[in-house]
Amino acid sequence: MSKVAVIGVGGWGKNHARVLNELQALSVICDKDAVLAKEAAKKYGVNSYSNIEEMLEKESELDACMVCTPIKTHYEITKMLIDKGMHVFVEKPLSFSSEECEKMMKQALEKNVVLTAGYIERFNPAVQYAKRLIDEKKYGDLFMMEFHRENRMPAQSLDVGIIYDITVHDIDAAMFLFGSRPEVVFARAGKKLHPYEDFATIMLGFSNQRVAVIASNWLTPNKIRTFSAVCTDGIITGNYILQEVKIDHGEATIFPRIELKEPLMLELSHFLDVIAGRRKEPLVSAADATYVTRIAEAAILSNQTGKPISLK
Ligand SMILES: NC(=O)c1ccc[n+]([C@@H]2O[C@H](COP(=O)([O-])OP(=O)(O)OC[C@H]3O[C@@H](n4cnc5c(N)ncnc54)[C@H](O)[C@@H]3O)[C@@H](O)[C@H]2O)c1
Repeated sequence: MSKVAVIGVGGWGKNHARVLNELQALSVICDKDAVLAKEAAKKYGVNSYSNIEEMLEKESELDACMVCTPIKTHYEITKMLIDKGMHVFVEKPLSFSSEECEKMMKQALEKNVVLTAGYIERFNPAVQYAKRLIDEKKYGDLFMMEFHRENRMPAQSLDVGIIYDITVHDIDAAMFLFGSRPEVVFARAGKKLHPYEDFATIMLGFSNQRVAVIASNWLTPNKIRTFSAVCTDGIITGNYILQEVKIDHGEATIFPRIELKEPLMLELSHFLDVIAGRRKEPLVSAADATYVTRIAEAAILSNQTGKPISLK
């Protein structure tokens, strides 16, 4: 079994530690907050560090690291890990800068290590189910998608706004479900309660007039996480939280049975399969993750300039 370190056991990283422990791959925990690192390490009976360099020096048998630290630290940490020959899973987004993403991607290629990013919705059973229907053209051609990711969030010390923090999930899901990358981005965003933008609507234009509209905000009281795929012969609506899909095709409405599964468990076991060579490529390539960041950058630029941004 591969030996994996979790770097950053804050709000999200602690879930990585739990799941990797279940998968018997958790080997080390590192957090610059030594108390947090020790607490988590004690829970799982593994070594803890508060410094990544020290961890790399002492843990000579490590195969891979999960980077679950704040977004603006991803690049420096990942660069150091790849340099030491680690396979790296970086939580989303890979970086807030596509230039940094390109550099990481190049470095990973040179060092022949796996580099992937935490676009977890690809592993959501509802998204996987919809993807199969779309690829099989069960309800005709997909020509439009709509995403909603909304709920009130307290003003917190995030290092980025909503686009980099959560809208990226739907940007990635749109590319995954369309099976292609958009050519043009138009966005409107603003802020009401948070230091960076806390509401955004983004329109992604794909080839052949296909379009995705992605709406997200940290303002509205209800928690909504939905997507809908409008096809020529029916509409597939999905709920990310409930992992449910509904299909309306004119004559009937269908609610297929989908088995509930923890997306993080599916995502991390997939990563372990890839680094152990049981699967060839990660479902989320570093190139895909880089493109998501390019789109996020374009959305912010579009909002600033009031113009659509071409990605060609
Ligand atoms: N996939 C998802 O659904 C999902 C959900 C939440 C967060 N995330 C992502 O996970 C990452 C972390 O988010 P979070 O909410 O857990 O943040 P957080 O601030 O709660 O935790 C980050 C942790 O990283 C530690 N840290 C910071 N710099 C470090 C360093 N140089 N070395 C070691 N440890 C360091 C901090 O001490 C902290 O404990 C972000 O990339 C975020 O976008 C993903």
